[in-house]
Amino acid sequence: MAAKHSPPTPSGAIADDLLGWYDRHRRELPWRASPGEVPDPYRVWLSEVMLQQTGVATVAPRFAAWIERWPDFASLASASDDDVMAAWAGLGYYARARNLVACAKVVVAEHAGAFPTTEAALRQLPGIGDYTAAAIAAIAFEEPATVVDANVERVASRLFRAGTKSAVRAAAESITPPVRSGDFAQAMMDLGSAICTPSNPRCLLCPLRGACAAYAAGDQEAFPVKPAKPPKPQRHGTIFWAQAGDEVLLVRRPPKGLLGGMRALPTGSWTGHPPGVTDAPIVGDWRLRNATVAHGFTHFDLQLALATARVERHAAGDGAIWWPIESLREAGLPTVFAKAAEAIGGGA
Ligand code: ADE
Repeated sequence: MAAKHSPPTPSGAIADDLLGWYDRHRRELPWRASPGEVPDPYRVWLSEVMLQQTGVATVAPRFAAWIERWPDFASLASASDDDVMAAWAGLGYYARARNLVACAKVVVAEHAGAFPTTEAALRQLPGIGDYTAAAIAAIAFEEPATVVDANVERVASRLFRAGTKSAVRAAAESITPPVRSGDFAQAMMDLGSAICTPSNPRCLLCPLRGACAAYAAGDQEAFPVKPAKPPKPQRHGTIFWAQAGDEVLLVRRPPKGLLGGMRALPTGSWTGHPPGVTDAPIVGDWRLRNATVAHGFTHFDLQLALATARVERHAAGDGAIWWPIESLREAGLPTVFAKAAEAIGGGA
């Protein structure tokens, strides 16, 4: 849909009004520089990567703990993959954690320990895509880059009644100011989170109400226009809880593929049909529990049966990792396995 009602306000005025609002209402967030402070590119990068799959409330304490342990590129570049993966547990999309270390290594080895400052050069680094490059360039280096995340998309699509992705991007670009681009990006995010919400937007409090085409037309909630999504396929599997004494059997998942390289509870293969206990990882008197665990991945939903057995430690094959049940939290299990352990209640 084209912008039928072009807002009468010049784009510079939109940025001015929004920045004025941001100066009064900006959220205090642990990765944000205070007004007048120079942003730390390492913190900006880390927060943007963490925030790609997780909300601000979950990220804030995780960010603080990470910074405590690895405060800069140099410390992260020499961290072990294992420690980093365990510290990332629960934040999802584990390739990102591996890329953080890979990127820190490149920054240290090839960029004298500091990020390049342009969007194009940032995009060459491991794990830095279009969004992250724009966010770092704008927020850390004051480059006039346009940052489009879900909040920005909502605000820009409503302002201009822009329907397609490319129209939304063009709309966001048209209002990005040449200075304070990082504050502008974060102001769009804060506005999207506090005022220009997906449903029941609080338009009467909005500093951009006078410029907003969707407000004028009264169809704010029709934007952003969502393309129809095909339903996600449902897959099934079994998680095996093999207990010997007060330890449980863990495995390391293959390096490639979903949750690659992570410590995990053993699973059978993931199929289209509810499975049984046929592909158990070790001999035992396997019993299916009544409880199941559901977990949504990007491309499919997984429904998992839970099987438990008491087993003999020596029956385990190569690659077995026996882990004390009491300290299972420290194994850094991905969320789906932490949910399974929770459902099993810590004992076969
Ligand atoms: N979401 C992604 N990046 C953000 C930021 N810098 N501030 C607030 N929310 C965000």
